[in-house]
Amino acid sequence: MLSERKKFFLCYFETTRECNLNCPYCMTRTTNKPRGAELTTEEIKRLVIDQLKDYCSHPAMAFSGGEFLLRPDALEILGYTARKGMWSFINTNATKLDKGLLLKIKEATDNKVIFVFSLNSLESKIHEWSRDDSLNTVVKAAKLCAGEKINFFFISTISKSNLHTFKETIGFLKSKGIPVLRSPFVLRGSGKDYSELLFSSQDMKDVIHPVLRDYHLSYVSYAPFFAGPEFLEAKQKQLNVSIGQFGCQAAKGFVGINAEGDVAPCVQLLDSEVKCGNVRETPLLSILNTNAVLLSLRERNSLKGKCGKCRYKSTCGGCRAVAYYKTGDYLESDPNCFFEPEDENTRSEHEEMQNKNADRFINFISRREPWSSLFNTEKTAQSLPERGRVINKMKDYFKSAVGALTGK
Ligand SMILES: C[S@@+](CC[C@H](N)C(=O)[O-])C[C@H]1O[C@@H](n2cnc3c(N)ncnc32)[C@H](O)[C@@H]1O
Ligand code: SF4
Ligand code: SF4
Repeated sequence: MLSERKKFFLCYFETTRECNLNCPYCMTRTTNKPRGAELTTEEIKRLVIDQLKDYCSHPAMAFSGGEFLLRPDALEILGYTARKGMWSFINTNATKLDKGLLLKIKEATDNKVIFVFSLNSLESKIHEWSRDDSLNTVVKAAKLCAGEKINFFFISTISKSNLHTFKETIGFLKSKGIPVLRSPFVLRGSGKDYSELLFSSQDMKDVIHPVLRDYHLSYVSYAPFFAGPEFLEAKQKQLNVSIGQFGCQAAKGFVGINAEGDVAPCVQLLDSEVKCGNVRETPLLSILNTNAVLLSLRERNSLKGKCGKCRYKSTCGGCRAVAYYKTGDYLESDPNCFFEPEDENTRSEHEEMQNKNADRFINFISRREPWSSLFNTEKTAQSLPERGRVINKMKDYFKSAVGALTGK
């Protein structure tokens, strides 16, 4: 097995609850609860970034909010993260992002930065309702990044409000080779007032899963995910990619931290009962190494119901956030899963296809920057001509991304 310090690990940190937009179902907004003070610049450096660096040799930070770029210390925090040798993801609504700020961020991070923009639908009305902003904002931001050769991808929050355009949206990104992450809509924060937007297991079966499994760059951390455990273990050994990067990532590949320093197995579970401590009270390193909730999720032995007896327990595990919000128990079966295993010998009809997707995804991240550095994959397997091809493909990626977003 790979040692723990070798693994990629991401800390998804909601740096502030402040925001200049008012998206209707925003999960970070708290309406009635009084909150403590948000972490200061020094606390973020010492209690989050330094501790994460001690946990793992190749960690990364994802800075989100609220709106991270409203923090006056955003550049200082990004610079500190880069000086620690770490990559930064920036989840931003992009309203503050002009060329001047983009170049300052590029310099502060030494271009070890990946922007994540929210794209909920290509149909502007649908996108704009859920985002309280024009579709043009993220299109412009992505064009800016592509023009400056700064990495970016999209995240799409799936709910009943955009389900009917999901295929078209992801299909467009697929046709341009632009990676996308899915985020399941959950009843957190202002999301609690929109339970009618929750999608069902039938939606997952008929619409969402067919679209996700058809595109290997829709990132394979979604559930249900049917790659065979033997297949992924062999791949992991071959390329030094951690198996923890597949299926539900809660506690395995990341944790979430809110603006006040509470830790949860994933961002969607922040502000819930599934709290794993606070970085002001317990060192993050100790939380990551000893917290019982995090350990149980990493083990996957405590999963209940069909997830507990499933062949894909280690490579999928079911979305723990969806399980929590729909059943009240983060260890219960994922209610959005349409697979009905009798026992751990039952195979999904999609296993072969998902193995292929995982294979293509692993090859993608192990052969391309920034992903190979970020995930610390084995690069020595690449011959020099192969590296040349990879560099050309990266150039193609930026070219096609610019083309996609400018219509040229
Ligand atoms: C809370 S926002 C913070 C970052 C930045 N302000 C933005 O909007 O991109 C991070 C992501 O969470 C998503 N999100 C917001 N509310 C959500 C909810 N109730 N369930 C799932 N995802 C949600 C947003 O669409 C966005 O992609
Ligand atoms: S989803 Fe992002 S942009 Fe929208 S209100 Fe929440 S924090 Fe702000
Ligand atoms: S039963 Fe659970 S572990 Fe198995 S595929 Fe479905 S969500 Fe994943």
